Amino acid sequence: MTVLVTGATGNVGRHLVAQLLDAGHRVRALTRDPSKAALPPGAEVVGGNLTDAPGLARAFDGVTAAHLINFNGEDYSLLANGPEITDLAREAGVRRVTVLKGSPDKSPLEQAVEASGLAWTHLGPVEFMCNALEWTASVRDEGVVREAFPEARSAMVHEADIAAVAAAPPAPSSSGCASTRPPSEPDPADPADRVPLGDLWCRPPPRLPRGARTASPRTAPPTTPRSDCAQE
Ligand SMILES: NC(=O)c1ccc[n+]([C@@H]2O[C@H](COP(=O)([O-])OP(=O)(O)OC[C@H]3O[C@@H](n4cnc5c(N)ncnc54)[C@H](OP(=O)(O)O)[C@@H]3O)[C@@H](O)[C@H]2O)c1
Repeated sequence: MTVLVTGATGNVGRHLVAQLLDAGHRVRALTRDPSKAALPPGAEVVGGNLTDAPGLARAFDGVTAAHLINFNGEDYSLLANGPEITDLAREAGVRRVTVLKGSPDKSPLEQAVEASGLAWTHLGPVEFMCNALEWTASVRDEGVVREAFPEARSAMVHEADIAAVAAAPPAPSSSGCASTRPPSEPDPADPADRVPLGDLWCRPPPRLPRGARTASPRTAPPTTPRSDCAQE
């Protein structure tokens, strides 16, 4: 099986590429800049931009499964051309897609995938573990955690675990619908609960002072559990 991985150079995508290769699949990895991809030699790296569906024909050629990101990294907007992308996938012979969700609401791409007749799985992790890396500088320099959303309770999950679900998604029901969160996703906790984990990686443990906010390109994690799919 040849699997097209979009977002292949990203936090989840790099793990997914590695896991699919380990599992013996052929992997085609999409990036806007192949010269910077730095992906394993086993992956076939192709250039393309998800906002330019006609330019993705080569990327989809011969692909039977695809992992799709939902957003355009240039301005972090949701992709608006979902129907074009899913038409391309179906015409190329893709039978199954996973979509990495970015918000609890259904994006145009998710809606198009659901209407496409393809088997699909939406992945709805709440928050990536790697977001905590944003704490690195303030922990190192000041011994404090500066967090953009200090009151937000969130269930953090490692990107490799999200990739593992994308690499072997649950079998879709007869209608082709499945929606899932990684099984390792913990109960929600706020940053003050998570900071003591810093004890594992530095001493003295960092503090989360009141008002220790920082700017972040992230949006606040959703406060309620996601419900992505009527059959969830
Ligand atoms: N961070 C979280 O806690 C979290 C939680 C839940 C869901 N999510 C969702 O997960 C997704 C990834 O989030 P992230 O911020 O961590 O991003 P990221 O891993 O840094 O991913 C960026 C990836 O997207 C690719 N990309 C961006 N725009 C593209 C375009 N127009 N065409 C082709 N490829 C494009 C980039 O490829 P190149 O640069 O190589 O072209 C790169 O591989 C987002 O949709 C986000 O909403 C994030």
